[in-house]
Amino acid sequence: MKKLVYILFVVLIIFGVVYFIRKGKSEVIISNKTLVAYFSATGNTKSVAEKLAKAIDADLFEIVPEQIYTVDDLNWRNDKSRSSVEMSDKNSRPKIVTKIENFAQYKFVFVGFPIWWGCEPAIVNTFIDSYNFDGKTIIPFATSGSTPNTDEAAANIQALVPSAKVLTGKRFSIDVSESELKIWADEQM
Ligand SMILES: Cc1cc2nc3c(=O)[nH]c(=O)nc-3n(C[C@H](O)[C@H](O)[C@H](O)COP(=O)(O)O)c2cc1C
Repeated sequence: MKKLVYILFVVLIIFGVVYFIRKGKSEVIISNKTLVAYFSATGNTKSVAEKLAKAIDADLFEIVPEQIYTVDDLNWRNDKSRSSVEMSDKNSRPKIVTKIENFAQYKFVFVGFPIWWGCEPAIVNTFIDSYNFDGKTIIPFATSGSTPNTDEAAANIQALVPSAKVLTGKRFSIDVSESELKIWADEQM
């Protein structure tokens, strides 16, 4: 009888341990959420980011500069304009006023931006530097006048965060549909 009680006790302990391990695992899976973070100076990338977040039911976060970019700031023909000065300095990190709470919950982070001088604006690098991307997957997306891809931006971002997986990403036209974005995004995750 004593032996039977002992065996029952051991079996209960084993079930208990298995239950807690499985519970722990499912909590990790539940926390694999997706974030769509974006910077947009004139609204094009914002409209793509909003469609993307809606299409894949992700959280949406706007990278808002402490100092908003004026038309003069965005003048790429002037090599003394704010954007030209920032983009000619690899270490430039313009300040951001918005902040993400509980960044750890995200496994996939889509990062959207306008292409500036063929790559990501310096403020995107501020964003990348501001959070711990260990083990996360970063998926760049962009709008542009004519630059056809996000290859250079992806390489720059990967160099900033070797501990993350940075995918090549994609450049979209502003009229991209929600369903196109969903098909693409599902392929990335
Ligand atoms: C400073 C600056 C540099 C730019 N450089 C490029 C470029 O190298 N290639 C390109 O195709 N478009 C370039 N553009 C155009 C933007 O990428 C394009 O208008 C984008 O859709 C703007 O997005 P936004 O409205 O989200 O800011 C540049 C725009 C600015 C303001």
